[in-house]
Amino acid sequence: MMMASEFKAGREFDLGGVVPWGRRLREYAAFFALDDLAGLAPVLDAGGGPSSFAAEAAEMGIAVTACDPIYQFAQSDIRRRFEETAEAMRTGMRRASYRFNWSYYGSEEAVHRLRREALELFLGDLETGKTEGRYVPASLPALPFADGAFRLALSSHLLFLYGDDLDFAFHLAALRELLRVADEVRIFPLVNLDGLPSSHLPGAMSILRGEGVRAELVSVPFEFQKGATRMLKLRKN
Ligand SMILES: C[S@@+](CC[C@H](N)C(=O)[O-])C[C@H]1O[C@@H](n2cnc3c(N)ncnc32)[C@H](O)[C@@H]1O
Repeated sequence: MMMASEFKAGREFDLGGVVPWGRRLREYAAFFALDDLAGLAPVLDAGGGPSSFAAEAAEMGIAVTACDPIYQFAQSDIRRRFEETAEAMRTGMRRASYRFNWSYYGSEEAVHRLRREALELFLGDLETGKTEGRYVPASLPALPFADGAFRLALSSHLLFLYGDDLDFAFHLAALRELLRVADEVRIFPLVNLDGLPSSHLPGAMSILRGEGVRAELVSVPFEFQKGATRMLKLRKN
């Protein structure tokens, strides 16, 4: 019988857990169809990591708070983890290039350039942002925010993507927590690291609907992992 560890070793993306790899605001805008970000604030970016979404929003005067366990670490540690991740990503993307639609980014180099831009914008804003309470060291599924503190909570490239590392109970608890702190929740992508539809999604949608949550799959103007063209949108009824 195949052990879980043997199966993992054969995966095209073996990242060794959830990694700090961050995107820019314009990418978030595409993942989450954010045509009117200012009108959706205040926004929570849960698992924001080294994304520059909060930093770029702050430049635009839009209230975004990001939370992530890595915000407790020194900048040098975050940078070192980023470099290790960049190496693993290079290997993974080369092996799995056929699984991506390259029309948005163009090339692997362009992806890496954007990730580095995001890292630098994020690190440049981190200390000020921490003192302003815009970067909060915290982990799902228990967040230190009041009920309804945000109009919108986003989570990009954490839930469902790492569905082999994070189990169903974690996903359900995390989604309930995001619904506690925000009126609306959007999650992208809904596939795992192998590019397959997350097995956690149907069960989570069904349980949340049973609890009176409006749960829909909404098409977005973005595709990188082939077939990952929808976000999950949740609203309390
Ligand atoms: C792949 S990065 C995505 C970063 C950002 N959301 C983006 O899409 O650019 C995943 C992030 O999830 C964070 N993370 C891992 N476990 C978490 C948890 N339980 N709660 C919140 N964030 C978590 C990691 O520290 C990492 O920064």
